[in-house]
Amino acid sequence: MPNLYEGAGILTNVKLDHVSKYFDKVIGVENIDVEIRSGEFFTFLGPSGCGKTTTLRMIAGFYYPTSGRIFFGDQDVTYLPPNKRNIGMVFQNYALFPHLTVFENVAFGLQVRKKSKQEIREKVERALKMVHLDGYGNRRIDQLSGGQQQRVALARALVIEPQILLLDEPLSNLDAKLREETRVEIKRLQLELGITTIYVTHDQAEAMAMSDRIMVMKNGVVQQVGTPEEIYNRPNNQFVASFIGESNLLEGTVEEMDDRLVKVRISPELVLSGWKENAAPGVQLKKGEKTTVSIRPESIREASSSEQGEENVVRGQVTLSEFTGVSVNYLTRVGEHQLKSMFVNRGFRVYQRGEELTISIPKESVYFLG
Ligand SMILES: Nc1ncnc2c1ncn2[C@@H]1O[C@H](COP(=O)(O)OP(=O)(O)O)[C@@H](O)[C@H]1O
Ligand SMILES: [Mg+2]
Repeated sequence: MPNLYEGAGILTNVKLDHVSKYFDKVIGVENIDVEIRSGEFFTFLGPSGCGKTTTLRMIAGFYYPTSGRIFFGDQDVTYLPPNKRNIGMVFQNYALFPHLTVFENVAFGLQVRKKSKQEIREKVERALKMVHLDGYGNRRIDQLSGGQQQRVALARALVIEPQILLLDEPLSNLDAKLREETRVEIKRLQLELGITTIYVTHDQAEAMAMSDRIMVMKNGVVQQVGTPEEIYNRPNNQFVASFIGESNLLEGTVEEMDDRLVKVRISPELVLSGWKENAAPGVQLKKGEKTTVSIRPESIREASSSEQGEENVVRGQVTLSEFTGVSVNYLTRVGEHQLKSMFVNRGFRVYQRGEELTISIPKESVYFLG
């Protein structure tokens, strides 16, 4: 869809240079230091209260940082008011004017900017086409579904041809099916327009599916910045490992170690070996010291009878058996631990609660979290 969007010509990177925000003594966010690239789809991900909205509002200019600076390209925008920033913003609750038509809602930002009637008409029509709402201009907002309303909000944000698009939990108020559709729609638009986009969500699946890179936050502090694969496969710490996807987190003591392999005793019944290099940044493994290993449920498989007694092969009792169609999910009790596993359904035999199951945990999938 070329020539629909002139703003895409002015691509902008966004830099947060050691940004902190305090509300009196409450920490909003602390020492955020990150650069969002031109044209990137970048997501702030974390539980409620971790500082996502606070960070977005500083980028939009609704809050000023307590310390640190914010740059759009080379321009220091730290204390620039929102209307001088050329950003488009979409909120969770749409924030549309219910008594105005779709056209009037989308036109609002252009009217504020004192554009001519003809320019407004052209640009609004173009923006409505972008979000597949051409022909809806005369409808009232309350005649639209939630998904359509959110697309009006998107058109309203894009009509001013912003350099940067900011979206704060835009799908939260939609039901599951609409959420999926609107997610695809937002991603399609972002790819077509190439606009630098910062997206806020607490939904890890949404973040994984949409983002070029993700910034994981907790209690106002950045935990990790990386691509979805990096964050999933090489989490920085236990919080990231358990917040994104599922993980077996097992505490144990390093029993043996050489240059390549580390053997950890989790319990009398459970000893696991893994590659030493397969560790989060900064983790120092030492013989006799405690460590936590993380194992993804989908990396565990059923062991064959010839593997019995081998390293990382353990036998236990099934305490939960859940057939979902796509997969079979098990909890298997080994000593005091319950190991979560997920086998993709390829027509294998399904074990029932109470049966014995022998599982194999590949060395490659043992990840040391410190
Ligand atoms: N205007 C405000 N006044 C006081 N505290 C605030 C304000 N806005 C946010 N906070 C606090 O800052 C922290 C981060 O909030 P917020 O950025 O809204 O989190 P999120 O968007 O990730 O749910 C929370 O502890 C919240 O209570
Ligand atoms: Mg929020």
